[in-house]
Amino acid sequence: MTKKIGIGLIGLGQRGMATVERYAVIPGAEIKAISDLRSSSVEHTQQLLHSQGRNGVKAFSGEHSWRQLCQLDEVNLVIICTDWSSHARMAIQAMNEGKDVAIEVPAATSVEECLQLVVTAHKTGRRCTMLENCCYDTFHLGISEMHKKGLFGEITHCEGAYIHDLRSDQGWMSYTVSDHKGNPYPTHGLGPICQLLDINRTDRLTSLVSMSGLNKINNTLLRTAQGRTILLQFDERTPRPYSRIQTLCGTKGYAQKYPLPTIQLDGQMAITGAEAEAIAESHHNKAVRQIIVEGRRLNVPNLMNYIMDCRLISALSHGLPFDITVSDAALWSSITELSARSAALGGQPVSIPDFTRLP
Ligand SMILES: NC(=O)c1ccc[n+]([C@@H]2O[C@H](COP(=O)([O-])OP(=O)(O)OC[C@H]3O[C@@H](n4cnc5c(N)ncnc54)[C@H](O)[C@@H]3O)[C@@H](O)[C@H]2O)c1
Repeated sequence: MTKKIGIGLIGLGQRGMATVERYAVIPGAEIKAISDLRSSSVEHTQQLLHSQGRNGVKAFSGEHSWRQLCQLDEVNLVIICTDWSSHARMAIQAMNEGKDVAIEVPAATSVEECLQLVVTAHKTGRRCTMLENCCYDTFHLGISEMHKKGLFGEITHCEGAYIHDLRSDQGWMSYTVSDHKGNPYPTHGLGPICQLLDINRTDRLTSLVSMSGLNKINNTLLRTAQGRTILLQFDERTPRPYSRIQTLCGTKGYAQKYPLPTIQLDGQMAITGAEAEAIAESHHNKAVRQIIVEGRRLNVPNLMNYIMDCRLISALSHGLPFDITVSDAALWSSITELSARSAALGGQPVSIPDFTRLP
């Protein structure tokens, strides 16, 4: 039997606790250590794990105790669920301690941090990914397979977004967003699009222009080496309905996820809603289909998180490549700084580094 992947989890807030819950049912992995600033969060999590029969978990509290977690032999994978400011620092240290790393979104907040993630992964031979769960949206996964079969022709343009009315949120994220001059949270919209366009493989992002307006609404337009375009939006301050848009414009077809799942292929009637979702799902590959069947049997609350976790643990257990490489994590996250740079220059074009090449 393959040995289980031992997880060390840093950050036991909203997302960290959701991660604790999720990993109760992910095959091939178990939480071995937890860490948080607050001892009350650590104690509460320990009690929860204990009540579920998940015993023997080592616990650390305090600002620097995560460093001890990274040194544990029983930890193979460090999952980082803290606020954005500490992601890259923790991931770099964990890789230097010989651990693989999975970082919540965005993986880093500056171009320099993004470069350091790539350099450290290369230097240490460890693997680093970003937990961009929107890449595992079931509609997106089906559309991706349809695209691989050529059903949309050549993709010429995509649109993505993070539109989420968070006006009532008063946590660190709202303060960080208030200070940001561009798009501080680009990866939910951009990640799935980069996968569709095969970015960092057969095409790459080359430049962007960005504008921020009233209410911190940001629009960023990105261009690829092959001349394809991506429109990315960020809006957390208006009463717009939740949307990641997820539009694909191809030479033979069109698809969008929001506001209504839609598939339009040349010469055919547009298909919308549940029917469009069912068509996308009918194209899932075998591996994804198997995970979804199991996720539904277990009645997991969120299938895209379940698919993401299963794919990650399966890749680690079998030594397979990650779906989201360190170069992907770095590129998608770098848009936080690059969009702010362009917006500060009144929307002037800014070059996007190639994170598949070491500096
Ligand atoms: N993928 C998604 O859908 C999704 C959803 C929500 C949040 N997130 C991401 O998850 C991350 C965490 O967000 P959240 O909403 O859970 O925030 P949170 O504030 O609820 O939790 C962060 C936790 O990190 C802990 N922490 C901070 N510094 C630490 C340190 N030095 N050592 C140990 N613990 C430390 C805090 O005490 C807190 O418990 C962010 O990157 C966010 O963007 C992703």
